[in-house]
Amino acid sequence: MFDLQTMRDQLATTYDLAPNPDLAQDMAATYARMERVVSPMDWALHAPYVAAIQKLKKERNAVILAHNYMTPEIYHGISDVVGDSLQLAIEATRVEADVIVQCGVHFMAETSKILSPDKTVLIPDMEAGCSLAESITAEGVEEMRRRYPGAPVVTYVNTTAEVKAASDICCTSSNAAQIVSAMESDTVIMTPDQYLAQNVAKDVPHKKVVWWEGSCIVHEQYSAKDLRDFREWNPGTRLIAHPECPPDVVAEADYSGSTSGIIKYVTDEKPEKALLITECSMASNISDSLPEVDFVGPCNMCPYMKMITLEKILWSLHTMSEPVEVDPAVADKARVAVQRMIDLSQKLGV
Ligand code: 13P
Ligand code: SF4
Repeated sequence: MFDLQTMRDQLATTYDLAPNPDLAQDMAATYARMERVVSPMDWALHAPYVAAIQKLKKERNAVILAHNYMTPEIYHGISDVVGDSLQLAIEATRVEADVIVQCGVHFMAETSKILSPDKTVLIPDMEAGCSLAESITAEGVEEMRRRYPGAPVVTYVNTTAEVKAASDICCTSSNAAQIVSAMESDTVIMTPDQYLAQNVAKDVPHKKVVWWEGSCIVHEQYSAKDLRDFREWNPGTRLIAHPECPPDVVAEADYSGSTSGIIKYVTDEKPEKALLITECSMASNISDSLPEVDFVGPCNMCPYMKMITLEKILWSLHTMSEPVEVDPAVADKARVAVQRMIDLSQKLGV
């Protein structure tokens, strides 16, 4: 458990972290990427952290890989690479720096460690989990294999290293349908997201897709009725859903795709009004680069993603904590499943 007060007291002995309007002004170019969603007062609060983190990154020879669900001051202020789960995994294989700070949840940091075992991979809060990763263990994968003998196991990257190690191949929301379609067997086991599996099953009707009963606590909250009500209330809004949403929600939407797929869709289409049926930071992060789009409607926060803050990132680089470790034997097996996904994705041009 994080002792926030101790962290704050210790950081204050080394860094001047008081709100600083002059520094905020000096960093106006960085602020320009988020000024529609971050107030000048908040930027004066963030600027000292952003400046300290940027300096420490150089001293530690570190890079920051950040998921699209990070808050704007992290996404635009300090990240070297931003992306969806697939893009971050691919970037982890290319990092030349000594240290990766993973701004995202634990399974993402573990994936980076699996792919770059010689690097130091830090996560600013070890408790940043994921309801999907918590829903299944390696025994669960074996149970599915017993239920469907001979069927390959395609496992979402939102899982622990042990679960990946017990699987044949991984997938993310941006390549799941293509990976399942490329399996030789007629029956394919997907773990652990029942909704992603059901959405894939619709896109790959020539396969019998069977699934584990996990779900994402952020995306399972939406219902098809919410979307219908919203269309009635706010006609002309483009509804865009992540495939971790239940299939009737995805069916109601105008587009469904991974977080980066959503960014590309909105950037290409530039709808007048858009409702992103996903985590709240998505709309915030692309608001400034798409001033012509009015992002409307409700969103849900991922409590795990929101555990990652500027303050904890600074602490992480200052103390080089917390290093993510994966048992080398488990990592070797998990790497096979993740690398198969990356290779097949690249072969299929996903
Ligand atoms: P993608 O960024 O791969 O679409 O995944 C979303 C997600 O929920 C990650 O936790
Ligand atoms: Fe997990 Fe859902 Fe949060 Fe993504 S949004 S980290 S799938 S709980």
